[in-house]
Amino acid sequence: MTERRKIIGGNWKMNLNRKDSIALAEKLADETDTQSLDLCIYPALLYLDRVGGVLAEAGSSIKLGAQNFYAKSNGSFTGEISLAMLRDIDCKTVLVGHSERRHKLGESDVLVNQKLRAALDAGFDATLCIGETLEQREADQTNAVNTAQLCYGLAGVNSHQLRQVTIAYEPVWAIGTGESATPEDAASAHAAIRRYVEFAYGKEAAAAIRIQYGGSVKPDNAADFFAQTDIDGALVGGASLEAEDFLRIIRLAK
Ligand code: G3P
Repeated sequence: MTERRKIIGGNWKMNLNRKDSIALAEKLADETDTQSLDLCIYPALLYLDRVGGVLAEAGSSIKLGAQNFYAKSNGSFTGEISLAMLRDIDCKTVLVGHSERRHKLGESDVLVNQKLRAALDAGFDATLCIGETLEQREADQTNAVNTAQLCYGLAGVNSHQLRQVTIAYEPVWAIGTGESATPEDAASAHAAIRRYVEFAYGKEAAAAIRIQYGGSVKPDNAADFFAQTDIDGALVGGASLEAEDFLRIIRLAK
């Protein structure tokens, strides 16, 4: 079986002020050893540069990630941030297609694909987020929805670029609700995702790509997710805002 290095992400979303963002980054930099896994934190964009400075000053190998960006290189796009600006502050990892941007902010599959391709073309690592709503789950459409979002999201992405992609399966109904999927249900969805990647890119690519689970991952359920063959890590929201909880999840992934 292909050994895949675990990957843990902390998505801080629109939380923490400057002081708390710096303090959390300092504690994670001080207390995490990323020799055996990949760890990325996604602060609010306003504090990204400062958090990056904390990681750099600590000599930490924690990766700095952006929750969002605009797919054009520069110009008249008021309020937006470009990939070039992210690179300028040594941020080379991005989230794309998070369900909150799809369902709360109206990002379409087409826009998700444009953003993913722009990030990959610019040499960024990208996590493509997919997942079904509660209604879709109840209609037994989980795999169909995930496959459609992968098909649209990965359109035009070649096998070489796919190596820069991590997939995050985040059932929308489990995000921020405290109601996570069962590890078995998550593993089943991940297996179907991996089967789609094999169909589209071949066995080697399917064996290599990492698939994170996201949706109410906590210290008391993380080990059960990480024990599943097709679950290669977690994209953590609420629990990543609490240093001790997030550090426990990281330790369980090793
Ligand atoms: O991107 C991760 C996030 O959507 C999961 O949030 O709070 O359910 O861990 P949470």
